[in-house]
Amino acid sequence: MILHTLLLLNSLFYNQNQASYICNLEDNLHGLQTEVAGLKELRSDLMSRVRIAEDEQRLKRLNQVEGWLSRAETLINDADQLIFQSSQHVDNLCMGGCCSTHPRSSIKFGKQIAKKLQEVKDQKENGDFSDVASKPPPPSSTERPSEPTVGLEFYLNKVWSCLQKEQVGIIGIYGLGGVGKTTLLNQINNKFHDTTHDYHVIWAVASQDLPIERVQEQIAERIGISNNGWKSIDEKAADIFNVLRKKKFALLLDDIWERFDLTRAGVPLPTQGNGSKVIFTTRRVDVCCQMQPNMDNNIGVECLPPGEAFKLFEKKVGSETLRMHPDICKLAEAVVEECAGLPLALITIGRAMASKKTLREWEYAIEVLRQSAASVLPGVGKEMYPKLKFSYDCLPDERFRSCFLYCSLYPEDYFIGKDKLVDFWIGEGFLDEHTNLSSARNQGHFIIGSLIDACLLEKQGNHRIKMHDVIRDMALWIAGEYEKEKFFVKSGVQLKEQPKAKKWEEVTRMSLMSNQIENLTEILECPKLQTLFLGWNDLKVIMDDFFNSMPMLRVLDLSSNWNLEELPVGIAKLVSLEHLNLLGTGIRKLPVELKALAKLKYLNLEWTRDLEMIPQQLISSFSKLQVLKMVRCGYGCLLVLEEMEHLKHLNVLTITFRSASELEKASRFNKFFSCAIEVVSLEDFRDSRSLTIMALAKLQHLCTLTLSRCWDLEEVKIERNITEGAGCFHSFRTVILDECNHLRDVSWVTFAPHLEELYILDCKGLEEIISEEKLGEVAELKGNSNLFSKLEILHLWCLPKLKTIYQHALPFPQLKEIYIRRCPMLKKLPLNSNSAKGQRLVIFGEEGWWKDVEWEDESTKIAFLPSFRPF
Ligand SMILES: *[C@@H]1O[C@H](CO)[C@@H](O)[C@H](O)[C@H]1NC(C)=O
Ligand SMILES: *[C@@H]1O[C@H](CO)[C@@H](O)[C@H](O)[C@H]1NC(C)=O
Ligand SMILES: *[C@@H]1O[C@H](CO)[C@@H](O)[C@H](O)[C@H]1NC(C)=O
Ligand SMILES: *[C@@H]1O[C@H](CO)[C@@H](O)[C@H](O)[C@H]1NC(C)=O
Repeated sequence: MILHTLLLLNSLFYNQNQASYICNLEDNLHGLQTEVAGLKELRSDLMSRVRIAEDEQRLKRLNQVEGWLSRAETLINDADQLIFQSSQHVDNLCMGGCCSTHPRSSIKFGKQIAKKLQEVKDQKENGDFSDVASKPPPPSSTERPSEPTVGLEFYLNKVWSCLQKEQVGIIGIYGLGGVGKTTLLNQINNKFHDTTHDYHVIWAVASQDLPIERVQEQIAERIGISNNGWKSIDEKAADIFNVLRKKKFALLLDDIWERFDLTRAGVPLPTQGNGSKVIFTTRRVDVCCQMQPNMDNNIGVECLPPGEAFKLFEKKVGSETLRMHPDICKLAEAVVEECAGLPLALITIGRAMASKKTLREWEYAIEVLRQSAASVLPGVGKEMYPKLKFSYDCLPDERFRSCFLYCSLYPEDYFIGKDKLVDFWIGEGFLDEHTNLSSARNQGHFIIGSLIDACLLEKQGNHRIKMHDVIRDMALWIAGEYEKEKFFVKSGVQLKEQPKAKKWEEVTRMSLMSNQIENLTEILECPKLQTLFLGWNDLKVIMDDFFNSMPMLRVLDLSSNWNLEELPVGIAKLVSLEHLNLLGTGIRKLPVELKALAKLKYLNLEWTRDLEMIPQQLISSFSKLQVLKMVRCGYGCLLVLEEMEHLKHLNVLTITFRSASELEKASRFNKFFSCAIEVVSLEDFRDSRSLTIMALAKLQHLCTLTLSRCWDLEEVKIERNITEGAGCFHSFRTVILDECNHLRDVSWVTFAPHLEELYILDCKGLEEIISEEKLGEVAELKGNSNLFSKLEILHLWCLPKLKTIYQHALPFPQLKEIYIRRCPMLKKLPLNSNSAKGQRLVIFGEEGWWKDVEWEDESTKIAFLPSFRPF
């Protein structure tokens, strides 16, 4: 009312427009309040529609909606401000009672109100959206959930720097199950997420069944092509290809089990030109090679070193638990050791132990773990092994599985000789029956290779393998849970006595190797037993009836029981026996009853120095015998050679000669050439100062040669014709010389181009290993650049006169270990800064000796200083 009066009074002074602001101020204010309230409601309705679309339908709000909301926000704020100020202005107007003039500010204010009112109205009108959101364009990468890790940064950097190389399109990551490959791939994904790049990053997991289809689904979803009613892999591939060929992508492909056919899935092959990348993980090295053969771009993830392993374990178990008792920390270290650096085991066992806060619980755990993690720690087996077992399930057939499980008979961390293992497998009948020995052996090595490829076994140099502790536990767990074969394995656990008979009816394989058992005084009732490992004990007495109740036994290993002097006659009960290993036992004679072992195919009598009596016609009665090993057997070889002539199947032999004339005579037997003679030792030669080893050059399979206690031997002659033709010592891998005190050099090993291991011990007169002067006599050999090109191990012990190994530095491209002890005159090693490149050479020696080593130059010295390990 007042406002109206005022307006009337003042309309003369102000133009109509200005007056109307004042005039309508009250109405406009009310109007504005109502409209703003309406706008607020509209905004909040719209907001909730947007939220639903975004959170539940994963859509992205439209830009116009975004703009409208932000303009609405500003408008509402401004209007609220105006409304708040209005009371002051209205008061101003009425204060003067009959105000004939209005303050300019009020007029301005009235104007603002009217304008705002219009804006709010307009905004409301525009706020009628039929759609508030739409499908977002796919982001270039999405973050994946990850946990803190230990020890993966190294590999992350390695992969990342490999990614930067233009010429690298495909990168493989391989390693044992549970070693952290998927975690690493996750980190690569997240590194993409955290850095700016122009890749379109795609994550896909390949599954064991239908890998291509599953990966296609994930790619299609990621690149935003929905199901177009595809009928086949090919149709889908065509669509995927059409999108991906226009993009620069990085495909992260987790867990493939065989070669993944990118082209068939529709993934354009990464090329240098377009910079796309494929990074995949697999447990199989062979799959890596099939995806791309350059091993520089296939990165192996290895188990954690002890320090890092402990850090990871601590993270999972909690440092609070470790601090509960000073001894818990020590026990924790032991637990970590049992996990052998495998992150999966560290994490699983760490979690299982997190709640264990008393010393007793920890003591119990370590006891259990030393046997097998699976057995008692609840949940650990179920958590961990199924993840690993997949590798086992994927082995091609039962044969591979049996061969794999077999390796768990050995003690933890045992270096298993491949050749020995394969000979066991042959005895067990794992390998094809029909083939001859050498192809059966090849098959065995092929299986070992496949198991290494599947990361179920680890390579240890060229000739040995190892089973990871956790994998071994899993193998025992599988044998216990799933397989018909029942194992009883107590190897390397310091048993002092034969385990007491329990339920052994079902046991098929038993290993008691590497213990301290002295006497076997109880019958083993094992009707199904096929395998019995008793090697590396302190056996003295085996009771006569011990073998009575194991009629199925095929493989018996009694090796390295140095005090076992007698075989029980009852051993004749083992009528199924195919493989008998008596290496390194103290037996004095073979009982004639052994004739009953009609199926025997493998007999090892190596290092039985005390064996003086083998009954006549015993060896020749083993009509199926294929392998006879007699290196360093006390019994003379000629007698046996004669009997061997009748053994039709015999084709592998190892043998010792005790005089040049014996060697001479031996070469008259047919078997000497028809058999593959793998190991020869020449021992106690008394009758010669000079030796020609030409006869040996004809043995195509000879891989180990020992010269031992040949006191008078002064030289091994290099005949001119050794060097001619291919007929020299091509097969030699190992040469051992000991106690040959008059020998001055070993230059002839130059003619063993594939020599891997050279051991020289106790040769008091040895001055040089390779004498150039001597080689010079054989003219064409001067400047032999291949010298020691395969050598991995060099051991030199107690060689008081040794001055030089070789006059000049050699490349030693394979050398891994040098071991030098009590060689006081040896001041110089044939090394320069280019020797043993990339080999992580280790040199063992006495510290005093090492100090005085003279180096080719300063850079050589610097290169090899870190290689030294004192005794
Ligand atoms: C990348 O190279 C492949 C193979 O040559 C081709 O099919 C694809 O179209 C290329 N992609 C881009 C983005 O150029
Ligand atoms: C074993 O068989 C393979 C092929 O079957 C043959 O090449 C090889 O010479 C045989 N070896 C022996 C020692 O008989
Ligand atoms: C094993 O037998 C030998 C000979 O009979 C005996 O001297 C020794 O004490 C026995 N060892 C054990 C641990 O019983
Ligand atoms: C090597 O030479 C010796 C004598 O010089 C000869 O008796 C022998 O037959 C030759 N051996 C070969 C393989 O030629």
